[in-house]
Amino acid sequence: MFMRLKDVRNVADFRKMARQRLPGPIFHYIDGAADDEVTYRRNTSAYDEVDLVPNVLAGVEDIDLSTTVLGQKIGMPLFLAPTALQRLFHHDGELAVGRAAEKYNTIFGVSSLGTVSVEKIGETISTPKLFQLYYHKDKELTRSMIDRCREAGFDSLALTVDTIVGGNRERDLYTGFTTPPRLSLKSLLSFMTHPAWAFNYFTHEKFELSQLKDYVKEGSNLSITVADYFNVMMDQSMDWKAAEEIASYWGKTFVLKGIMSVEDARRAVDIGASAIMVSNHGGRQLDGSRAPFDQLAEIVDAVGDQIDVICDGGIRRGTHILKALSVGAKACSGGRLYLYALAAAGQPGVEKALSLLHSELLRDMKLMGCKSVKDLHRGNLRFR
Ligand code: FNR
Ligand code: LAC
Repeated sequence: MFMRLKDVRNVADFRKMARQRLPGPIFHYIDGAADDEVTYRRNTSAYDEVDLVPNVLAGVEDIDLSTTVLGQKIGMPLFLAPTALQRLFHHDGELAVGRAAEKYNTIFGVSSLGTVSVEKIGETISTPKLFQLYYHKDKELTRSMIDRCREAGFDSLALTVDTIVGGNRERDLYTGFTTPPRLSLKSLLSFMTHPAWAFNYFTHEKFELSQLKDYVKEGSNLSITVADYFNVMMDQSMDWKAAEEIASYWGKTFVLKGIMSVEDARRAVDIGASAIMVSNHGGRQLDGSRAPFDQLAEIVDAVGDQIDVICDGGIRRGTHILKALSVGAKACSGGRLYLYALAAAGQPGVEKALSLLHSELLRDMKLMGCKSVKDLHRGNLRFR
C-alpha cells in the first residue's frame, strides 16, 4: 500500500512512508546504525522492561505538559535532537523542521552538518534553538560556527562527544551512501524509481552543508561518506580541557551530547555544563553500548540536582517519554521520530509526528493520573 499522510498513526507508520518516498541509500542512512545495530534496537526495547503503574481518580481534566530545560520553558517534554543533511530528506530541510518545532513550542536542534545557514534559521525560526557543534581540526572553522550561532541568536550549544571517529554503519557501505549523493548507475536507478524525491532534490536550491562549505569542499561540492568525513575532519585530541574552552568561549547554555557514564556526568558538572544529553547517537556510533534509558537512573542519582539530564534516543511513543521523566530526566529528545516524518511529508509531516506524540502524552498522562510532568516519579514504575 502506498501510504498517505492521513493513513499515518505513529512513528512506525512514518518510517514505512519514508521508506516508500526516499531512494534506498538515503532511507538507510537515516534508519541505519552501527555494526549489528544491537544498541539501536535496545534504545527502544529498554522501555519495554519497565511498566507504568497508574494512580487513578486524580481529576485530570487539565494537563500541563510544559517543562523547563536548558533554561527554556517548553510546551512538551520532547525536543528535536540535531540531525545532519536534512535537505537531502526533504527539500525544505531545516526550515520545515524548525517551523514544526515552533508550532509545538519546543527546542529545535540544528546540526553542524546542517543544510540551511544558521543566519537564515535565526531570521526565520523563533522557537528556542540549540546548535550542535562538531569539534573540527580546523579551529577557525569551529570558532566561526560558534560566532555565527551567537550572532544568529541561538540559545544553547551542544558539543557532541561520541563521534570522535565515524561509526561503522554497514548499511551505508552496502548502499554506497555519500553526501552529496554520488551520481552512479546504482544511485541514478534509485533516483529514477523515486521520481518525486529526485524532481524536488534537483529542482530546488543546490544542496550544501551551509556551516561548513566556506572551509571544506567535502560534503557540499565533493562527495564523501559520512564516516570518512568524521575520520578526516574531527580533532581526535578533543578532551575535557577542550570542552571547557568551548563552553567558556560560547558563554551561554552549554550541553554535552553523548554522555553515558556517571564519571563523565560528574565531569560535565565540573566544567560548568548546564545539561547533558544521555545518548549513544541513536546507536550509530558504538554498537554494544548501553541504552540511554538503562543508564538514566544512575546518572540522575549522581548529578540530577546539579544539571539538566536529557534522555536522547529510542523514543517512539509518548509512554517512553513518561518512563524517562519518571526516572528523573528533565526532557527527552529524538531524531528519527521526526526525520521519517520530514522525509514522508515535509513540514506537515513533522507537525503530524509532533501532534501524534503530543496527543499520546496528554492521553497517557490522564491515564496515569498525572496532571503535570512534575507528578511523575519512580513510584510510577516497576522494573521487571
Ligand atoms: C543523527 N544524530 C546526530 N547527532 C549529532 O550530534 N549531530 C548530527 O549531525 C547528527 N546527525 C544525525 C543524522 C541522522 C540521520 C540521525 C538518525 C541521527 C543523532 C541524533 O542527534 C540523536 O542523538 C539520535 O537520532 C537519537 O536517536 P533516535 O531518536 O533517532 O532513536
Ligand atoms: C550521523 C552524523 C552526521 O549520525 O552525526 O550521521
